[in-house]
Amino acid sequence: MDDAENLIQTIRKALEEELHSQLANLAYPPYETYHEMLAYHMGWVGEGAGEKATGKRIRPIILLLCTAASCEEWKKSLPAAAAVEFVHNFSLIHDDIEDNSHYRRGRLTVWAKWGLAQGVNAGDALFTISHLAMLSLSHSFPAEMVLQATNLLLQTCLQLTQGQFLDISFESRPEISLDEYLTMIEGKTAALFAACAQLGSLLANDQASRQKHYMEFGKALGLAFQVVDDLLGIWGDEALIGKSTSSDLVSGKKTYPVILGLQSDRAFAKRWRQGSIKPEEVLSLARQLEEEGIRAATEAEAHRLTQRALSELSAAQPAGLAAQALIALTHKMSQRIQ
Ligand code: IPE
Ligand code: IPE
Ligand code: MG
Ligand code: MG
Repeated sequence: MDDAENLIQTIRKALEEELHSQLANLAYPPYETYHEMLAYHMGWVGEGAGEKATGKRIRPIILLLCTAASCEEWKKSLPAAAAVEFVHNFSLIHDDIEDNSHYRRGRLTVWAKWGLAQGVNAGDALFTISHLAMLSLSHSFPAEMVLQATNLLLQTCLQLTQGQFLDISFESRPEISLDEYLTMIEGKTAALFAACAQLGSLLANDQASRQKHYMEFGKALGLAFQVVDDLLGIWGDEALIGKSTSSDLVSGKKTYPVILGLQSDRAFAKRWRQGSIKPEEVLSLARQLEEEGIRAATEAEAHRLTQRALSELSAAQPAGLAAQALIALTHKMSQRIQ
């Protein structure tokens, strides 16, 4: 393991402790099950608890690396890192209700386990906890900076719900344009990545111009992340050979490759327009899309966005091991498909 990877591991461990400590004081009677729902979703308890159930924790790691790239004291940003991970997880709990999804990270979703009403409430709890975590930054930072950081995160939450609004409204539309799609993923995914990078930089006391480069880095990284996620939704192992029912083709999601496929108006588009796709058609349709050049075009877009992220990162002039770690993480993310 190289030094940059070591730094990521150190950060990951400190983050997990911070997340635990932000929730620890909620496990008292009669709220044991309330706490259990939150701890379950965070991946710590219940069946399947462990590394796969926690998710990747990529957003808070980016935030902490962006602080570490400017200043030694990255630990001061831990409450903000916990906050963005709680925002992410609140959005997943509600998203699973909105999407009627019974499984996430290989296990039952909170609402599938405890019911819809408790699921809504568990999401609300994580949303609230995330902002309390932001306010706790005031132990280490001036009040004005905490206000700025909290405002940034709340604006981001608003963008996230706008992105979700578009995503949900696109479900009942036969076709959407690439521009509409990009606006949607900018809200639902890239806004939080952008906020993570900017928050890390803000808390390192960087100047506004440098924060802007970090923000653009995070935004491009978030867009690339979603395009790669869309790739995996069709050509990833799970979608193709694991459980073809989990393929985005079966759920009818209008993701980046599907929009391109519809625009090119060939055999894939004709089949898509005839009605819902069955699990047994997944392999051949994924192959068809690939033959139409859509997989290559989607990979090219992910690559283009990754290059944009790297160029913004370089303009932000990150220093030391954290800079190496950010570059490595950006490359690794765009290679998730291989
Ligand atoms: C899932 O995000 C939602 C998207 C924006 C694609 P992640 O893939 O980062 O989720 P976890 O936290 O690692 O499970
Ligand atoms: C994930 O979006 C939720 C947010 C980004 C808020 P999707 O609905 O597209 O992704 P998965 O497949 O449930 O993770
Ligand atoms: Mg979903
Ligand atoms: Mg969704």
